[in-house]
Parts: sequence; C-alpha cells; structure tokens
Amino acid sequence: TRNPVAKLLLFGATGDLAQRMLLPSLYGLHADGLLPPELTITGAARHDYDDKDYRAFAKKALHSFLPEDRKDEKALGTFLERLFYQPTDLSDPASFQPLADKIGDIAGGLAIYLSTAPSLFESAIEGLHKVGLAGNTVRVGLEKPLGYDLPTSREINDAVAKAFPEDRTFRIDHYLGKETVQNILALRFGNSFFEPVWNAQGIDNVQITISEMVGLEDRAGYYDGAGALRDMVANHMLQLLALIAMEPPARYDGTDIRDEKAKVFRSLRMITPETVNQDTVTGQYGDGAVKGAIVKGYLDELGQPSNTETFVAIKAHVDNWRWQGVPFYLRTGKRMTTRRSEIAIQFKPVPHSMFAGRGGQLQPNTLVIRLQPEEYVQLLVMAKEPGLDREGVRLREVPLNLSLDAEFAGSRRRIAYERLLLDLIEGDQALFVRRDEVEAQWTWIDAIRAGWTANGTRPKSYPSGSWGPSAAIGLTERDGVTWQDD
Ligand code: BG6
Repeated sequence: TRNPVAKLLLFGATGDLAQRMLLPSLYGLHADGLLPPELTITGAARHDYDDKDYRAFAKKALHSFLPEDRKDEKALGTFLERLFYQPTDLSDPASFQPLADKIGDIAGGLAIYLSTAPSLFESAIEGLHKVGLAGNTVRVGLEKPLGYDLPTSREINDAVAKAFPEDRTFRIDHYLGKETVQNILALRFGNSFFEPVWNAQGIDNVQITISEMVGLEDRAGYYDGAGALRDMVANHMLQLLALIAMEPPARYDGTDIRDEKAKVFRSLRMITPETVNQDTVTGQYGDGAVKGAIVKGYLDELGQPSNTETFVAIKAHVDNWRWQGVPFYLRTGKRMTTRRSEIAIQFKPVPHSMFAGRGGQLQPNTLVIRLQPEEYVQLLVMAKEPGLDREGVRLREVPLNLSLDAEFAGSRRRIAYERLLLDLIEGDQALFVRRDEVEAQWTWIDAIRAGWTANGTRPKSYPSGSWGPSAAIGLTERDGVTWQDD
C-alpha cells in the first residue's frame, strides 16, 4: 500500500550528499517518470538563495555528477521546475515559520529528508513540530549518524518520537538501498536450495568485508569523533550480517523483515572486556601507497594526535539455534589495498574425500556475494581439470558465476538513494531501520568500546594500501580460516 506525498522538503539541500547523491537520484526518478507528477521539492539550508539561485545550483551539481548518458536537457529542464528553496537555520527557532509558509498546504502529504549534524536534530524536530510540519500527513527520513552510542541515539529517537511516530519515521542506511544488498533476500528466499545448508550444519564461517581506498575525505570533524566501528559496523555491516543471518520473514514488508533483523541483533553475543582483545582488532593507517599513489598517514592527514581506529576486524557470534558455533568475521577500513564490499560464506568441507592421495585437494565451497565495485554472485565449486592423468583426477576450484552486471546489462544501475528516496516519498518502510534495531546495534557496539576502554586498547598502525594490521589475519588464522581472496 504505497501512499505518495505531494511535497518533499530537503534539509541540507546544498551539502555534499545533496550534490553527489540526492539531487542526481531525484532527477533519475523524475527522468524515468517515477515521481508523483505534482511533487515539489523544497531545499532548505543556510545559504541565502532564492528559488532561481537554487535551480542554478542544482543544475551545476547535476551537470557534474550525472553520468553523461543520463543528461537529457528536456528532463533536466522539467526537473528544475520542481525545485524551490528557503534559507533555513535549524538552530534558530525563528527560521521555521517562513519555511512553513513557503511549503504551504501539506494536506497532500509531506516527506522531510533530514541530513544534519546530530546536535541539530532536537531543535530541528521541535521547530518543525511547532509550525505544524509534523502532523499526520508528514513523514521524516533521518540520515546517519543517529547518535554516537546508545544514550545519544535514544535521545535523538526520543526527540523524534515526540513529533513522529515510528510508522512515519524512516531511518536511512544507504546500504539497504543497494541492489546487491536486496539481492541477498532474493537469493536466500527466492531459491530453495540454499536454505537447507544455511545454518551451522552447512556453514563453517561467514566473512563480511568493506574495504575502502579513501582516507579522511575532508570529514575529519565527523570521522575522528566516530571511527570505523561507529561509522561502518554500527550500521552497514550489522545490516548485512542481519540479512545473512535472519530467519525467513513471512512477507516482504517493513514489519516482517525488521522483526527478523531485530531478532538477529538481540542474539549477537556481547563482547566483554575479557573477550575484546581476542575477538577484535583495531588499526589506524600510516603512510603508504594505495594503487601506486603515495598517501599520508592518518595522523598527518588529521594534523593532531588521535587514537581513532580507521580499521576494525571483529569475530562475532549469533547466539541462536541456527548459528551456534559459526563465527561471523567482519572487517572494514580506510586506505586499504582495494575498494571492495563483499560477503563470503564458507561452507563445511565434505565429510570424506574419495580423492585423497589421488591429486585432489578439496577446497570447501564458498558463496561470494560481491556488492561493489562489481556486482556478482559466485559459488566456488570443485571441478575436474581436463586431462588424462593416470595418478588420479586433478581438481580445481572454479566459480559458478552470476554476473549481475552482465545478466542485467539492459537495466539501469540505480544508486542506492534512488530506491530510498522513492520509498520515502511513497511510504514503504521495508528498507529503513527501525528504532529497536538501532538500539540493539548500539548496545552491542557500546560493549566493544567499553572493552577497549577497560583494556586501554590502542589501534595498531598499518601501512596504507594493505589489508590492515597483521593481527586481523591472526583473528581468522587462529580458527584455521583464511580471509577470502587475500
Ligand atoms: C558512509 C560512511 O556511511 O559509507 C563513509 O560514513 C563510507 O565513511 C561510506 O565511506 C561507504 O559507502 P559506499 O556506498 O561507498 O560503500
């Protein structure tokens, strides 16, 4: 039951995210005829623009950030006509009435997209509420970071809840907007043959990697206060883990999917000060070279001392019937050797090898779900190499390959925000994060941080352009497991 709104209000309308992602996404939806025909988009930010200035600003952003084949002058023209602008200072209560006047009648529904510093959340929500921009016809989309830990996240959620009930609150985790992330659901629940082995009997371990080549990217103020654990694990990586680990939902909808994810988060085994040094590894990038380009270390880039981790690896456990004894290894970091988001599911080895002593070394099967930069699903299987070997058969690991890029070459690759903005505008919550999920995520994350504090844990330096500190390799090797594709 989709219920489109007639108006969209975009806070942070001149920011980096708006230029690179939100405006191009909204344009993409517009160009394909997917937006409600009457939808207007009002930008709000501190810049002293009027409608005309904002249209010029948006035009420039679209020209820089849209792929060439998406630039259609006619569609660009009609898209810009949807745009309006109101200068707004979220910390100034006097800013909200002019905004409400500008927006006008909201009987046809209003969706608000709030991408601001968490410190402004409370005043923003209060201001909206006071001028009547939070009634029954209004829904709100919230960008991360939604707090730094459980207490601050509760504060934000409480402030939001005063004006918006949960069914009108849309917490964004942009990973859920990615095609291949949604494909996890299709693979698991649209096929019959994974489910019987999708458990501790069939699976030996699960590995989730998000490695990035970028460093601080002009975000020192935010990033140094956050670190890799809060920036990537508390949201994106735990969402991926939940989609892999959850029980089959009864229906594809916001309630059933999120009920199952929330159960996974509640089943995560707490890491304690006693286990934290064994089950986590932290790192901070030093000097090095990424794909041949010399780069500075984190502290040089930052210009001051810091113990913020830019890499973290964790051995996690989901303590329930299905996953007993199956480690979930997570790792993510900046300035690593390559850009890759990937889930690798390693199955149990065969119980007995008839090839032993006959030249055949068996590798356990692995299902690789590559989210980026390429999009594919590979099942690594053993196959016989062609030949007439007398000594036996030569076996080799080869991929059964589903390249989503090639298979769906005819269909448009959409950015995650196209899906999420469309769902916000139409009111579908399935790909947004519910309050209980966020709070269970923080509870688990905070315990790790508390463990680091109790132990005085400091990140280990790793060279830029590597796979992180060598201790991260030790984390899996100890269990006889090798990170996929190292
Ligand atoms: C963001 C993080 O949420 O995700 C960034 O704040 C990170 O630090 C980004 O670079 C990664 O997103 P993607 O889509 O490029 O994998």
